[in-house]
Amino acid sequence: MNKKAKDIIYISVMIIIITFFHYFSISSDWGIHDFYRRLYYIPIIVSAFKFKLRGGIITPIIISLLYAPHLFIYFGLIDIEILNQFLEIIMFLLIGIITGFLVESDNRKKKLLSYQIEKLSDLENYTQNILNSITNVLISVDKSFNIRSINKEGINLLKQTEEQFIGENINKFFIEHEKIRKVLKEVIDTKYKKINIETRFRIKNSDILDVRLLAYPLKNIGGNIEGVVIILEDISEIKKLEKQIRRTEKLSAIGELASGIAHEIRNPMGIIKTISQTLHSETEDEDLKEGLSIINHEINRANNVIKELLNFAKPQINSEQNINLNKLINDIVLITKKYAKQHNVNIEYNSTEIREILVDGEKLKQAFINIIFNAIQAMPRGGKLDINLIEEKNNLVISFKDTGIGISKEKIEKIFEPFFTTKDSGTGLGLSITHSIIEEHNGYIEINSEIDKGTEISIYLPKAY
Ligand SMILES: Nc1ncnc2c1ncn2[C@@H]1O[C@H](COP(=O)(O)OP(=O)(O)OP(=O)(O)O)[C@@H](O)[C@H]1O
Ligand SMILES: [Mg+2]
Repeated sequence: MNKKAKDIIYISVMIIIITFFHYFSISSDWGIHDFYRRLYYIPIIVSAFKFKLRGGIITPIIISLLYAPHLFIYFGLIDIEILNQFLEIIMFLLIGIITGFLVESDNRKKKLLSYQIEKLSDLENYTQNILNSITNVLISVDKSFNIRSINKEGINLLKQTEEQFIGENINKFFIEHEKIRKVLKEVIDTKYKKINIETRFRIKNSDILDVRLLAYPLKNIGGNIEGVVIILEDISEIKKLEKQIRRTEKLSAIGELASGIAHEIRNPMGIIKTISQTLHSETEDEDLKEGLSIINHEINRANNVIKELLNFAKPQINSEQNINLNKLINDIVLITKKYAKQHNVNIEYNSTEIREILVDGEKLKQAFINIIFNAIQAMPRGGKLDINLIEEKNNLVISFKDTGIGISKEKIEKIFEPFFTTKDSGTGLGLSITHSIIEEHNGYIEINSEIDKGTEISIYLPKAY
């Protein structure tokens, strides 16, 4: 049985019982009749609540019909009382209608309210979906620059949870916080947007992201400034490319200059060296002999620098051949093993089956030897160097993993720059030469390093280019 039917039965039973009492109680006892009559208000109000205006009209009519014959029993007896009871019938109807009407309008209001709430939450979801679909970081801040909201992309890209952001001051996330504070303040003061500001944003684990910032005034309905909407676009890839291009330009400029100078210096150096060697073999003076051998040693060192500079200056690939890198690396390991042993370094080389690729073998040898020497020099107390060669879908990957001193984050940025060295007798050219050789082969280098744990340098060479 459904609820409506149950309610109808419930109300009907109430009416029948009250009517029954009316007709079967002593007719002369007016007090008790008054009481029964008023009991009718209960089913009237209940049915107005349950069936609204409809219930509030139908029930009093039914009750009046049931009740009216009862009146005729007394008709002509006491006029005033009859009148009174007629009025009561009208009251039944009035109370039924008013209650029904009130219940109905209350219901209408409730419906309207729930419809509005639904619409509002639809709108909110819709707005939220728009914000989350934007692939830039979108942050809103209040007038004191405390973060009020951040979109999904922001949370993903900045690798933080929402709780870590909300309520924090945005300035502390910018490296150039003073500059950004001024920009945001200007947006609030002038109510005008600021766009295309390149800056750097601090993300999780003190990593830094290059971003382009756009700031718009956030106005409320009244047009008053409430804060700022900040949009951040990740431009780290572009920045990386720019840096690479600048480095390549720098390298070729240095290369040209270096080759000119190197040529000019090599000849006088040769002469100085020959004369000092002759003098060394002819003189008996021990002090002079010692001085001359220092000159000789230093000239050798200078010649080395010149040789490297000249290497550096001719970056073109000379001869390309189909080469099996496995064999090439095996050769290099053989050459470098002795040097490694002297420094207590154990080299281990592993390779999977790979196919031959078209490369300049001699140049690649030079690139790999630079890396191996660096690794050995990074392990002053000995250690292990793991070399691996694998074939990926598009690349051959050669990785060199040492257990050395590691490289700090600031230094990693610089190690490919010419003349950057941390060694007393280093030229700082090794890795920049390696870098240009790998670039000539359309490959790229990846570095992972942890201080005091070691460094892994991976070289990706495309199988076809
Ligand atoms: N495997 C490594 N572990 C730790 N630091 C390294 C490693 N490889 C390179 N470096 C750092 O990078 C710097 C630059 O290396 P690069 O080969 O260009 O020059 P260098 O080794 O100093 O000089 P040269 O190669 O002429 O002997 C090094 O001085 C060193 O600080
Ligand atoms: Mg080196």
